[in-house]
Amino acid sequence: MEVVIVDSPAAGADLAADAIAQLLRAKPAAVLGLATGSTPLGVYDALVKLHEQEGLSFAQARGFALDEYVGLPADHPESYREVLQREIVGRVDFAPGAVRTPDGWASDLSAACLDYEEAIAEAGGVDLQILGIGTDGHIGFNEPSSSLASPTRVKTLTVETREDNARFFDGDMAAVPKHVLTQGIGTILRARHLVLLAWGANKAEAVAATVEGPVNSMMPASALQLHPHATIIVDDAAAAGLAQADYYRYVFANKPDWQGI
Ligand code: GLP
Repeated sequence: MEVVIVDSPAAGADLAADAIAQLLRAKPAAVLGLATGSTPLGVYDALVKLHEQEGLSFAQARGFALDEYVGLPADHPESYREVLQREIVGRVDFAPGAVRTPDGWASDLSAACLDYEEAIAEAGGVDLQILGIGTDGHIGFNEPSSSLASPTRVKTLTVETREDNARFFDGDMAAVPKHVLTQGIGTILRARHLVLLAWGANKAEAVAATVEGPVNSMMPASALQLHPHATIIVDDAAAAGLAQADYYRYVFANKPDWQGI
């Protein structure tokens, strides 16, 4: 696990976008794992800039979203399908249909989850997965007590997550769906590189427990400790609870130029 403490969310977003750009240049048909929430928005802005100014192409790439709400109206602007379309897919040159989200409108949700797992496997697996983290330590929508080996499945959101996400629904928690489809922690751990981003003091507790606490299903993001290539990019505020912050800063400051994240 590598912890990178950056001066600002913008610096962290650039670092993550550069890693994606490097991947796409080396492997144009790369499979990207896309996250929603407010945290990765700067990464998407940086990628759009690289696309417009340096011709970074997504034409052969594919993408898979982490999760989706169940039962929102089909064209609801806060469905993750719509959010990803608005924030990244429609702003670069992904081929039509190249980015998938779990089907939260399927009549058979379990079959839709199985189908999603198969689609990821058929694509060859995710090369680089962007992750945010919930204040309760969730990744994707894997709430506390999620199996660390879980596949894509239906989950029930905690009240804390629904309260956190109410800001996307005009502050109305009742409008936040109770159920979601999410890649499981087992699914996420199969991606080849995990890049978890966290900004702000309200993430500090979850970040400290993720990096320095025990691997524990009550802190789902702590499963990243089991991954051979996990990068945690945090700003100073989100790093505030890390006991070994000076060590992580020392390691990153002394990183050889030839070694990316
Ligand atoms: C949401 C998403 C997660 C995201 C997290 C944090 O509920 N399902 O993928 O990482 O909560 O959101 P934010 O980045 O807005 O803080």
